[in-house]
Amino acid sequence: MVQEFDKVGVVGLGTMGAGIAEVFARAGFNVVGVEIDQAALDRGRGHVDKSLTRAVDKGKITEDERAAIDARLTFSTSREDLSDVDFVVEAVPERMDIKRDVFGDLDRICAPGTILATNTSSLSVTEIAALTDRPEKVVGLHFFNPAPVMKLAEVVTTVSTSAETVDVVTEVAKRVGKTPITIADRGGFVANALLVPYINDAIRLYERRIATREEIDEAVKKAAGLPMGPLTLADLVGLDVCLAVMDVLWNEFHDPRYSASPLLRRMVAAGRLGRKTGGGFYTSADDAPEPLP
Ligand code: 3HC
Repeated sequence: MVQEFDKVGVVGLGTMGAGIAEVFARAGFNVVGVEIDQAALDRGRGHVDKSLTRAVDKGKITEDERAAIDARLTFSTSREDLSDVDFVVEAVPERMDIKRDVFGDLDRICAPGTILATNTSSLSVTEIAALTDRPEKVVGLHFFNPAPVMKLAEVVTTVSTSAETVDVVTEVAKRVGKTPITIADRGGFVANALLVPYINDAIRLYERRIATREEIDEAVKKAAGLPMGPLTLADLVGLDVCLAVMDVLWNEFHDPRYSASPLLRRMVAAGRLGRKTGGGFYTSADDAPEPLP
């Protein structure tokens, strides 16, 4: 079944979507990357180019392999170009109105047998599946940032997902070099339900001036041997994504452990979302102040 897969669509080429498109193309799939307009498409293509250049520079792939990967990647601003793909991964912004628009189109455009996967980290896969007439073929396929590097893929099932869909998606995840775990749809799935409250706790320590941002990050790196501290990780993941996950956990469980830090909420309101906006807890702008509470 999966062996017959050849052409994969990726809708949304932000940080995650571009990384996912790269992962599939590197694994030998033909990929159609779709964005909403030319400017967004150029940005997405730029993400992929930069990452592949880095892989060549580090000697992970040769120039010839890079050319073959490039040849497998096509880009479009029209979702209609997904009419002949075998599998779709959606990675558009985390808003249900945008997902509704995308999944409505995908359900109309793609063949009835095409599996539609969402990379959502904070919305209900069950609700997304219910936007289509093929809920048994809709599943979560959740990658981690940076997608070309992180090995986990969460395969998120709903009460409607068929066993065959789960088998196929699990196999696809393995084929792109990821370690899949299959879990039921719930707020935060598994990894974010653990990681994001940990990030939130670090923000609370910072908010209460228990330690500086550097001390908090260094403490975790040195104590637990993690590659980056929680405030650096928050900037990588995106503070808007962290807040969305916290709010989902709060709404689902009403457990005080899951209440978002006021500073996190204020930083999102201020548009300081992390690396993608050039500044979060750390900033690339020389004149931006440290976000003291
Ligand atoms: N794209 C492709 N490759 C990348 C990359 C990117 N954006 N960023 C780093 N890499 C590669 C590098 O090429 C390098 O490869 P090599 O070891 O084969 O040469 C390797 O990753 C290490 O990179 P660097 O040496 O430049 O830097 P670091 O050693 O600091 O590693 C890191 C960077 C991989 C990001 C590492 O710090 C890390 O693993 N951090 C934790 C990331 C994490 O926890 N992610 C999960 C977040 S939760 C999430 O995404 C879920 C969502 O729903 C919110």
